[in-house]
Amino acid sequence: MELNLGIFKKLFKRGSGEKKEVGYIKEPVPENAEIIERYWITKPFARVTIASIPELGGAIKYFVEEIPLRPEEEAVLDKIINIVAAEINPAEFKEENNVRDAMLSMADKIIRKYEKKFKIHRPDTHKKLLYYIERELLGFGPIDVLMKDYHIEDISCDGVDVPVYIWHRKYESIPTNIVFKDKVFLDNFIVKLAHRSGKHVSSAFPIVDAMIYGKHRLAASFREEVSPKGSTFTIRKFREEPYSIIDLIDLGTINTDMAAYFWLLMENKVSMLIIGGTAAGKTTLLNAIATLIKPGYKVVTVEETAEINLPIDNWVQFISRESYGISGAKVGEVTLFDLVKTSLRYRPDYLIVGEVRGEEAFVLFQAVATGHGGLCTIHGESLDAAVKRLTSPPMNVSESYIPLMNVAINIERVVLPKRPTTTSYGRRVTYVWEIRDYNDYIPVFEWSPSEDIFYSYIERSVLLPRLAHKLGLTLDDLLRELRIRARILEWLKDNGIRSFREVAKYINEFYVNKEELLKKLGIEVEEEKEIAVSEVEELPSPPVEIETTLPTEVKPPKIERPIVRRFPYDLAEEVMNKIYKILKILMGRKGVYSDIDIKTRLNMDDVEFKKIIEIMRKHHLISIEKKRKHTYIRIRKKGIKVYNTLSSQLGK
Ligand SMILES: Nc1ncnc2c1ncn2[C@@H]1O[C@H](COP(=O)(O)OP(=O)(O)OP(=O)(O)O)[C@@H](O)[C@H]1O
Ligand SMILES: [Mg+2]
Repeated sequence: MELNLGIFKKLFKRGSGEKKEVGYIKEPVPENAEIIERYWITKPFARVTIASIPELGGAIKYFVEEIPLRPEEEAVLDKIINIVAAEINPAEFKEENNVRDAMLSMADKIIRKYEKKFKIHRPDTHKKLLYYIERELLGFGPIDVLMKDYHIEDISCDGVDVPVYIWHRKYESIPTNIVFKDKVFLDNFIVKLAHRSGKHVSSAFPIVDAMIYGKHRLAASFREEVSPKGSTFTIRKFREEPYSIIDLIDLGTINTDMAAYFWLLMENKVSMLIIGGTAAGKTTLLNAIATLIKPGYKVVTVEETAEINLPIDNWVQFISRESYGISGAKVGEVTLFDLVKTSLRYRPDYLIVGEVRGEEAFVLFQAVATGHGGLCTIHGESLDAAVKRLTSPPMNVSESYIPLMNVAINIERVVLPKRPTTTSYGRRVTYVWEIRDYNDYIPVFEWSPSEDIFYSYIERSVLLPRLAHKLGLTLDDLLRELRIRARILEWLKDNGIRSFREVAKYINEFYVNKEELLKKLGIEVEEEKEIAVSEVEELPSPPVEIETTLPTEVKPPKIERPIVRRFPYDLAEEVMNKIYKILKILMGRKGVYSDIDIKTRLNMDDVEFKKIIEIMRKHHLISIEKKRKHTYIRIRKKGIKVYNTLSSQLGK
């Protein structure tokens, strides 16, 4: 049946007389508000208006607008809801969809009956009633629109008489027009949410942390027991379709070089620790990295609430369980600690712990010490803070175990340098370190806040030479492999392949037939570079393998020498960074570059550029050649050995 939108438009225009709610209100959009954006959530029943409010100094507010009901419809609605709720027993159905269908068809019948009986029938009545019934019985009632709006990530209510706040992707934290007015109504709402997830909340158990219908994460407090202003709740919405590694590249959280590095490490069961503050994006990054896993590897995940979502089959998922404790006794509790211990029996290639907080960290490190790959997140504002937490109670990881976590990744919510078209906040991986030892961390990637770009110091990696040795390859082989993978990721990004399942398909293909895939994507494999055998042998010989059974007190020996031995590591940090930046550009593309390009990209003036070029020449990183009108700089064969075929044009 086609709906007559005209009717709804008129109704929306009236603005007043929306379904009168008991217990909460939805403020209308003020006349003088300046409307910024408007979009439908469920056309034509519910839409969102985002507006700037002059009375609030131009602050932005989110308005939920739903199709209004006439008073006579409203009276009938409550009756129908009560009947349907009483008659349907969701426990009878195995599938969620069946409950929905049964409920809607029952509602449909009852509406028809009541429309006749109370003579309320108008063209729009039936659909409107169905909308509200579904919202009430299958949806989230007053916050249903918020739950359906995919722009919203978090919803929180701090009590009655204050607006419900949301975290909107575009506008960040903003108030909504929804205000709970009645304490009892709010209490009941929370009880209902908790019950739906099979949890209990009451004055005796006033805190609930649960996964609610649709895998969203609910944290709530009940009445004044622990929150003096009354019940509160916050919902972190679940992403049906988690961010893939390509999404994170698109969002600028990481770049393709970093992603390629993670990909190579995941294949080699290297252990990684993701560090960040609350809602920094730790779990999201963990999930995206985990989807790079080599097909066929066995994964066990351990979490408190089910957030991780992987596109693989060989995956065992464990979720911890709280006790049903009465008067302090811990009955039936299954902790992260128990689960991590158990998961070792499954012999996972990767053990993934959503977030380490307690003694499970100790077991995880033990697992890593015995050759499993480990991946986890930890709450912390810095690497030092995170390591401090790891080595103190209750985690108690011994200092000598810290380097077993080979890589640490720091993610933050940051202010971005002003750009006209984008929002000013973002999430960025600000550092990737290789952990050589306790208190000895080597940055291999770094984010620059002023430019919003990432610098790679992959040349300093201590892990790659070790890996190369283990794999019987040269470091050049590995670096070339990284570049190939970065190009595959680049291709996926450029071709809009971003859903995590789609991306996983390409990863699969990569492992099934790499040559074929490269051919399909049109990626040329670089020719192998000539390197004198004697030079390869000079590379530090790695005494430690990544996978190893370590007795308690053994520390992985240090590898002191940088891989690129000719790089002038004794220069001032600032100069080194500039050299890196120039090299990076030169290495990034084949062909000839103009100096103006480089100067503009790095915001360098001529004098400075020439100075740095001269230093590079002196340290044999480049050679300078004059040919006819131009001067060419070339990355030297004997300088940075890995990248020796590119040339660049230097101004006159
Ligand atoms: N790179 C990103 N870009 C944009 N939004 C992101 C990014 N990563 C995560 N988010 C969003 O931020 C919110 C928090 O993400 P996530 O749960 O991963 O953070 P967290 O650090 O694990 O939080 P917590 O401290 O609660 O465990 C989510 O709603 C998610 O969709
Ligand atoms: Mg998390």
